[in-house]
Amino acid sequence: MKTLTKTTLFIGTIFLFLLGCNTSENKKNNATTETVFHAKVDSLMGLMTLQEKVGQMVMYSGSGAITGPTVNTNFRTYIKEANVGAMLNVYSAKATRDLQKLAVEETRLGIPLLFGYDVIHGFKTIFPINLGLAASWDLDDIEKGSRIAAEEASAVGIHWTFAPMVDIARDPRWGRISEGMGEDVYLASKITKAYVRGFQGDDLSKTNTILACAKHFVGYGAAQAGRDYHTVNMGEEELRNVYLPPFKAAVDEGVETFMTAFNEINGVPATANKYIFKDILRDEWGFNGFVVTDYTAINELVDHGFAKDEKHATKLAIEAGIDQDMMSSANRLYLEELVNEGEVDVELVNEACRRILLAKFKLGLFDDPYKYCDEQREKETIYKPEFLEAARHSAAISSVLLKNDDKALPLTSEKTIALIGPLAKDKENILGNWGAAGDRRGKAISVHQGIQEYVNDAKINYAKGCEIEGDDESGFNEAIKVAKKSDIVVMVMGEDYDMSGEAASRTNIKIPGSQTKLIKRIREAVPNKKIVLVLMNGRPLDLSEEDTLADAILETWFPGTMGGNGVADVLFGKHNPSGKLTVTFPRNLGQVPIYYNMKNTGRPIPANNPKEDYKSNYLDVPNTPLYPFGHGLSYTTFEYSNFKLSAETTGFSDTLTAMATITNTGDYDGHEVVQLYVHDKVGSITRPVKELKGFEKIFLKKGESKTVSFDLSVEDLKFYNSEMKFTVEPGEFEIAIKGTSDFDFEHAFTLE
Ligand code: BGC
Repeated sequence: MKTLTKTTLFIGTIFLFLLGCNTSENKKNNATTETVFHAKVDSLMGLMTLQEKVGQMVMYSGSGAITGPTVNTNFRTYIKEANVGAMLNVYSAKATRDLQKLAVEETRLGIPLLFGYDVIHGFKTIFPINLGLAASWDLDDIEKGSRIAAEEASAVGIHWTFAPMVDIARDPRWGRISEGMGEDVYLASKITKAYVRGFQGDDLSKTNTILACAKHFVGYGAAQAGRDYHTVNMGEEELRNVYLPPFKAAVDEGVETFMTAFNEINGVPATANKYIFKDILRDEWGFNGFVVTDYTAINELVDHGFAKDEKHATKLAIEAGIDQDMMSSANRLYLEELVNEGEVDVELVNEACRRILLAKFKLGLFDDPYKYCDEQREKETIYKPEFLEAARHSAAISSVLLKNDDKALPLTSEKTIALIGPLAKDKENILGNWGAAGDRRGKAISVHQGIQEYVNDAKINYAKGCEIEGDDESGFNEAIKVAKKSDIVVMVMGEDYDMSGEAASRTNIKIPGSQTKLIKRIREAVPNKKIVLVLMNGRPLDLSEEDTLADAILETWFPGTMGGNGVADVLFGKHNPSGKLTVTFPRNLGQVPIYYNMKNTGRPIPANNPKEDYKSNYLDVPNTPLYPFGHGLSYTTFEYSNFKLSAETTGFSDTLTAMATITNTGDYDGHEVVQLYVHDKVGSITRPVKELKGFEKIFLKKGESKTVSFDLSVEDLKFYNSEMKFTVEPGEFEIAIKGTSDFDFEHAFTLE
């Protein structure tokens, strides 16, 4: 460690004081522009040694959470040596202040640390998992939820969330499908923007806003066989038309940071991939925030077989445009040496350091490095009643009613309920995989508690029945007994929270353990009673069997801290379900990958004979999924009529309007997600059979009608063509406005 003299410490302090004053003055003059920050960064960098610059490019994990395979307990020493620019997994106003003090008071220049954390679907107040939130199709609600997450996280010293995860995912085996927005490019891009707006707000210098991070760049969701971290091979067409757009949306929304993906893509690991980071992200898209690696991803270049050792890996990563090293220790150990040996251009270090410092200036950390470490604010902010209320609402609107035969739902408070299943009283799994700092057990509301708000205790007959996993059937008899003495059966079942998320891939996507067997036994025991299956899980499951056994199925994902209340609100009809799937539920694993916007093939199945020989089909199951993208029932019914187009032929500079009337024809008021789909019939690159191009969530009182219209311009019809140009091609397009992706087109227009 270099010895610090009192004089150098003094210089640093004076310098930072001046920076702070300048910033305040500029604020007064309303001139806190990026240009001003750049000038400040330049003056600061003028004082920095190479080692101090490299230090900014290093991140270590504290011990507040373990989110990767290695720990390094020397971080306090490294901070004091000016060898650390950021920390993750440290939270609480006290803990972050404590470490910030080391950086500010014990290093020569006193450059404040950045504190990052996985604030993925809430911080303390946990919202439904991201796949569930997406199913609400409610951009305002998603933005509000991430705003609340930022409020809470920023109150405990966090400046930066490693979210949103914007990886398109079409393979339910992959555990991280739970963290994303589903299979659709258009919807995921819109949701990405909502998250970024929510986290970053309109002014990063406010204490309640945090940096967002678009991750994992890129292709992570396409891991072969759904196995986490696995190889990705994809053509340029798929990369550009499917996997890149949500990341581009994040850049367009001003996201400040990016994270690399663990996977290789077309033979080059993402963390050393110049093509995606330099050519696409920086040069093509003009991204000027900073890029952090995923956890130990630089080290992993060696195991990938791309770098001969960690020093080589360090060189490859920085040359690919990666700015900060999360947990590899690679930059700390080798970067300075590589520059001194002439192996790495010092300008690359300067650029990376500049970008990281810029983020710190934007956050106002040079004004006050402790501005996020306020214990009083922490106490006042966490679990505010309005946050909990918002989480309850999100849980309700994220739930998807997959099936509801003979109006099994909603429940009424007069009937006795057999409440069965390993998740009925659960307060731990309900938070989902990224429970962040949420209190598992303590704070969460179980479905049982939620139901207790509606029904008096005497009417609830509870039996656990079985565990989530394992083949124990010893609780079956008790469960059958309570089913027999009740009017209706509600079974709360699904996965354990850590059966999805990172490093949680499954080759079997059925409900685990003996749960389905229990449903079967109950069906046999009470053949004439209604069975309502309430599911908690982090991926599309194969529900083919349950679909034949249960009268109603409500998919609640992992609904979060207030999950029990939100779910009960839906079960009892206080909230009419309005969620729609953003990911396809297959009939079985053999259909995977299956998604609504697939290609037609040269031998599509004829509608009147799907089993025809020499056609693209299966011998054993239909091509169709069990529950399609966009599907989700309501307690009421909606009828679509009067589809109209403003023109049948449209020009390149015109706007085409499509409209339809939606009528609530059932017995309840309710929300409906109205979806616009287009099919570009011929392309220089074949186009998907359907593509979502717009949606609107509307509220209709029973009997009420509304006309919903969508404007389409050529921008909406663009795609990367055979020359990888983002363009639109003339020709015929089919178009429809529907409440699901499961329909046949009846209308078309021509673009001339
Ligand atoms: C995950 C990232 C996460 C990081 C930090 C990694 O293992 O892949 O998504 O942000 O850990 O916790």
